[in-house]
Amino acid sequence: MQTDVRPESLQRITTEDLAKQFIDAQIKALRSQIGSDKVLLALSGGVDSSVTAALLIKAIGKNLVCVHVNHGLLRKGEPEQVIRVFRDQLGADLIYVDAVDRFLDKLAGVTDPEQKRHIIGKEFIDVFAEEATKLQGIKFLAQGTIYPDILESKEGIKAHHNVGGLPPELDFELVEPVKLLYKDEVRVVGKALGLPDSMVFRQPFPGPGLGVRCTGAITRDRLEAVRESDAILREEFAKNGLEGKVWQYFTIVPDYKSTGIRDGKRTYEWPVIIRAVNTRDAVTATVPELPFSLLEHITSRITAEVKGVNRVLLDISPKPTATIEWE
Ligand code: XMP
Repeated sequence: MQTDVRPESLQRITTEDLAKQFIDAQIKALRSQIGSDKVLLALSGGVDSSVTAALLIKAIGKNLVCVHVNHGLLRKGEPEQVIRVFRDQLGADLIYVDAVDRFLDKLAGVTDPEQKRHIIGKEFIDVFAEEATKLQGIKFLAQGTIYPDILESKEGIKAHHNVGGLPPELDFELVEPVKLLYKDEVRVVGKALGLPDSMVFRQPFPGPGLGVRCTGAITRDRLEAVRESDAILREEFAKNGLEGKVWQYFTIVPDYKSTGIRDGKRTYEWPVIIRAVNTRDAVTATVPELPFSLLEHITSRITAEVKGVNRVLLDISPKPTATIEWE
């Protein structure tokens, strides 16, 4: 078993060669830890869980069982990408759980942001625990814990167990193959494992997903407006060379409407708010200057393509005083 302290001698993984050395060493270590037992992993499609899954698939193949819970709050195309990459390309044993109705029904009418987070977190654990209980003979639980998670949990900032809070009868031994790595190293390893750039260099995405970007009580139609406008923003940032240059960017659809006009008729529809920030550590953030012509183009696309939207706004507030997310 690895310790929780990164040895001074561990070289920072910055090249494909170093990544390959790490991968080879981990495959040996994983095989000796796990033997012929089975391992369960909650695969969100985020960088850390994806790299953990890809490493384990290399080490133990079908003895890894991945569970991907679609809670309805993922970005456009994400569940499909998880299935395509892991089931179709890497041949993983992947259980896809469509829990969209279950989450959205629980969230209906809930306006308080922290209560929304709590419901999403608890429901996720419940769904995952139900899937785990259905499976027999699983001894290990793999987690995409990374070194900053361990440092932050030591300092009492946050608990690092991604699926913490599982019921006591699900008493798994932990497998955490990237727990001594920093995020940049996880990305280098992910690339060496052949994961697509869109997964490896993905911008940060909060656990509660689009749920905190559909402010107030989530409704399915407004959630769809968040998802579609976010997809347009991401597509346009990628096309215009901003992907990888701006740290995080997304859209918010607040729970109020304003008057507009379309085809000579009055409308009463939602605004879409564009949020784009740069930061080193997400503790403070600045707003980058964006080309006005690009903002105009994104506005015309969103108002033409996203149902129920008649305005587009740009949030130019730094953190502080604003936070990055709106909830
Ligand atoms: P804020 O809004 O606090 O966001 O300035 C800082 C960074 O954290 C992300 N974020 C979250 N991530 N669960 C997460 O996993 C959450 O509840 C959550 N809230 C915010 C946010 O996207 C930004 O990168």
